[in-house]
Amino acid sequence: MSEIKAAITGIEGYTPDYVLSNHEIATMVDTSDEWITTRTGIKERRILKGEGKGTSDMGTEAVKRLLKKTNTSVDEIDLLICATVTPDMQFPATANVICDKVGIVGAMSFDLAAACSGFIYSLETARQFIESGKYKKVIVVGGDKMSSIINYEDRATCVIFGDGAGAIMLEPNSEGLGIQDSILKSDGAGRHHLHQKAGGSVKPASHATVDAKEHYVYQEGQQVFKFAVTNMADVSYEIMDRNNLTAEDIAYLVPHQANKRIIDATANRMGVGSDKVMVNIERYGNTTNGTIPLCLWEWEDKLKKGDNIILAAFGGGFTWGSIYLKWAYNS
Ligand code: ACO
Repeated sequence: MSEIKAAITGIEGYTPDYVLSNHEIATMVDTSDEWITTRTGIKERRILKGEGKGTSDMGTEAVKRLLKKTNTSVDEIDLLICATVTPDMQFPATANVICDKVGIVGAMSFDLAAACSGFIYSLETARQFIESGKYKKVIVVGGDKMSSIINYEDRATCVIFGDGAGAIMLEPNSEGLGIQDSILKSDGAGRHHLHQKAGGSVKPASHATVDAKEHYVYQEGQQVFKFAVTNMADVSYEIMDRNNLTAEDIAYLVPHQANKRIIDATANRMGVGSDKVMVNIERYGNTTNGTIPLCLWEWEDKLKKGDNIILAAFGGGFTWGSIYLKWAYNS
């Protein structure tokens, strides 16, 4: 019997309509289009507007489109994982909410929190259920409404983040296509440099925490940059090396979109030219769990069956990692 691998068989995405440009941000905080573009590569980001709208609304739209595109009925879904740091509520899981809004009843569904590495952590988790033979159709959603935890008076963070979500279908493949290898790591000591101070069990929400603006992203940018640039590049090189892949063998690098300079450093370390790197940070900024699926979604029609693809991410935790996969279909 041939070995079963877990392969992506469909992808969809959703980005909100509202475009928050660098020029508009420059009317809100002391910054400029020139500073943001040179330091991050970002020109604009999308913002989910509307009372009562959350991450599940973007995830739901992506999943509805995915089910339609892959001609899959809601009854066929065995598991749905939602990677997010901006769940609709502390509990229940946003994955449960998405299932309900889409009409998936009775499937296993849960959220996975690994900050910007959440999508690749979730992909690796989903892979285990497919390779074991337990499940046949798994959906992984990666999405965040970062605007819900960003302080638009803090120029060091508000220029970076945006809202968006993507969703992939994962199924068994017996042709040797799909996920080939993964390296996933964490170092909890990094939590001091990137976190949300209040709203958890250590510091529940109170008037004082709201007044102190502790429900927003706290980031020591330079520290995070230093760890991100080294670890994302190293892990991407390591996965290439141990699979005997040269830069020529790689069709695309799909890096987490946190900062164009981190993306360039990763591509340089791998020896991969810019024509092989998926970059859409200029239009969406850092959508946290949304970045990798949104890239794959936008590049889907360029991908060919058998293409070697490297996914790479770094995020809060710290968490980081890389996944090597062979693309499984022509669109
Ligand atoms: N506009 C103008 N000036 C600014 C801005 C801004 N938006 N932000 C900061 N500055 C100023 C600072 O005040 C500082 O001024 P000073 O020299 O007078 O003190 C100067 O610019 C340099 O500030 P740095 O913080 O050193 O800027 P840096 O070049 O490091 O860029 C950035 C900041 C973009 C945040 C960068 O550090 C970065 O990308 N860090 C990594 C982010 C990341 O990868 N996060 C992980 C994923 S996110 C997640 O997991 C949720």
